[in-house]
Amino acid sequence: MTQAENDSRAWTLVDEGWGRRAVDFSTLSEPANCREYVALHHLLSVDAGDRLLDVACGAGLAIELGCLRGAQCAGIDASKRLVEVARFRNPGSDIRVGDMHRLPWEDGAFDVVTSFRGIWGTTPDAVAEIGRVLRPGGRLGLTVWGHIKVSPGAWALSPFQLASKDKVDNQAAMVSLGRPGAGEGLLESCGFVHVRRVEVPFVWEFADPDLFARALASTGPAYEAIENVGEEAFYDAAVDEARRHLRANLPLRAEINVVGYLARNAPEEEMEA
Ligand SMILES: C[S@@+](CC[C@H](N)C(=O)[O-])C[C@H]1O[C@@H](n2cnc3c(N)ncnc32)[C@H](O)[C@@H]1O
Repeated sequence: MTQAENDSRAWTLVDEGWGRRAVDFSTLSEPANCREYVALHHLLSVDAGDRLLDVACGAGLAIELGCLRGAQCAGIDASKRLVEVARFRNPGSDIRVGDMHRLPWEDGAFDVVTSFRGIWGTTPDAVAEIGRVLRPGGRLGLTVWGHIKVSPGAWALSPFQLASKDKVDNQAAMVSLGRPGAGEGLLESCGFVHVRRVEVPFVWEFADPDLFARALASTGPAYEAIENVGEEAFYDAAVDEARRHLRANLPLRAEINVVGYLARNAPEEEMEA
């Protein structure tokens, strides 16, 4: 199989990791991201009448919050089992299973596009595709992992390092968009204007180490670690890590550095120039 065939097939395998614990992900993991969704929607002034697309929408909680602001929402994710939950939560929205590199919507179909840690350093072509479906002058808001190592809550992501070396190396390439200048450069090279880096709050909170381990185990990168060391070893490592951060009468709290990018699609006259 050629590299191109491999790349275009890769998205069909995403559900193996991201979809296998779709209910745990949607109820234990995704709600912990809520501050990020609320903050980015606010920064983008998402409002009634906006046609909003959420790329790599996961189980659709951000879509639900976008609908509460009055937007008419759509979403896409490669995991069919996460999309099933997203549709269950958002029966009035147009949510599809598919690849973010080939968005199944017409040019200029949306006023706002968001993606919450769904666009990676390893998926630059998806940004140009987003530019195609966003109307001229439309608003873009992306979040990506920032400087994880200096984050007070870096411990919460450390069990992912139990994956094989090539998978851990790939995870590092994926999070490269948060580095200074990286996201700005990519967005500008895809024709976006007024590109701005903003701080986005991101805090995971869990009731106890077991719930933390169960939430973490429902994610795609956890699956890569589980494939390498097994379910039990992953779970035990996550519980041990969390126990070191427990404080009496307080939730387990992991604050992680997340970078937001706000940008505008070039207006019509600039596109033609
Ligand atoms: C870090 S999760 C973010 C999910 C969601 N945005 C959230 O806030 O929880 C990454 C998501 O990207 C999806 N994904 C991975 N590759 C994809 C692709 N090529 N096209 C569409 N979605 C993809 C995964 O299924 C997963 O839901």
